[in-house]
Amino acid sequence: MRVLGIETSCDETGVAVYDSDRGLLAHTLYSQVELHADYGGVVPELASRDHVRKIVPLLDEVMARAGLRRAEIDAVAYTEGPGLVGALLVGAAVGRTLAWSWGVPHVGVHHMEGHLLAPMLEDNPPAFPFIALLVSGGHSMLVQVEGVGQYQILGDTLDDAVGEAFDKTAKLLDLGYPGGPAVQTLAAEGNPDKYKFPRPMTDRPGLDFSFSGLKTFALNTWQTSAQDQQAKADIARAFQDAVVDTLAIKCRRALRENGVKRLVLAGGVSANTALRARMQALVKAEQAEVFYPRLEFCTDNGAMIAYAGYLRLQAGERGGEGFGAQPRWSLETLQQPTPL
Ligand code: KG4
Ligand code: ZN
Repeated sequence: MRVLGIETSCDETGVAVYDSDRGLLAHTLYSQVELHADYGGVVPELASRDHVRKIVPLLDEVMARAGLRRAEIDAVAYTEGPGLVGALLVGAAVGRTLAWSWGVPHVGVHHMEGHLLAPMLEDNPPAFPFIALLVSGGHSMLVQVEGVGQYQILGDTLDDAVGEAFDKTAKLLDLGYPGGPAVQTLAAEGNPDKYKFPRPMTDRPGLDFSFSGLKTFALNTWQTSAQDQQAKADIARAFQDAVVDTLAIKCRRALRENGVKRLVLAGGVSANTALRARMQALVKAEQAEVFYPRLEFCTDNGAMIAYAGYLRLQAGERGGEGFGAQPRWSLETLQQPTPL
């Protein structure tokens, strides 16, 4: 089965084709980062309009790269939510229309399920069950995954998502948008012993997170610092160390409490090299294994949507007559794929 996947939930237009026999045939991505950079964050209306501009050329490009004709696509998957409603509607409308005009089935995919299953596109995919740390611009969650559609949220953020905390800290240090990669680069030049940030909510039981205090801590530290380039680097380092440490403590707790030996990292923040290194050390000590997608599939992309859509379609799931967008959509409401 060959599935065309479309992702338009935020500021990246992603298109890909996944083939159940041959794997990923082609994928392409257009990032709107430059469009939103002047505003310091994503402007929803501009995002929707840019998806409209880019989606058809990207579809043509992916089909050409895969060397496919329309008749060779067996189904279409698109991101149905969560995300920005206008942006989601672009991908949903295009995906649904193509499926209708080509006479093939379609399915709406949960964006976070896409992230969660993205490591399964790699050569050494994780087997079920696993614990997933989903860390993106909008989410910070620990999820127990028993199978496709079998998700139990073990911990969630009470305020800012991890990526959001990276972005806000970058903004107050004037590092530009998106902040995660900028903080990571600058942190490499920071002195790890200069400042010590708190590890929020690690001193009490449970797996929930809270990251908004770290951003405030960064602001206060900046205001009382020398306010030069070295101070920025030292703060970036202390902030990143605190985030990575906090996530590692909670991941270790989740693995131990649930007796699971496989950890999956997914979502934009899983691209962070300090986080990856720390999780490698953690699983070694726990005699467990860690899995993550290649860097380009950590952040938003069409491949993860094509793949998650494929898993649901091959289990018999089919979208109905209409189509929709679900800007707010809990991962826990998902079910195992069921034939229509
Ligand atoms: O998954 P994603 O592309 O979009 C959402 O679904 O939110 O995640 C984007 C987030 C942004 O907050 C960005 O700053 C963060 O992921 N990010 C990083 C890194 N690369 C992206 N955070 C820390 N370190 C990175 N290397
Ligand atoms: Zn995402």
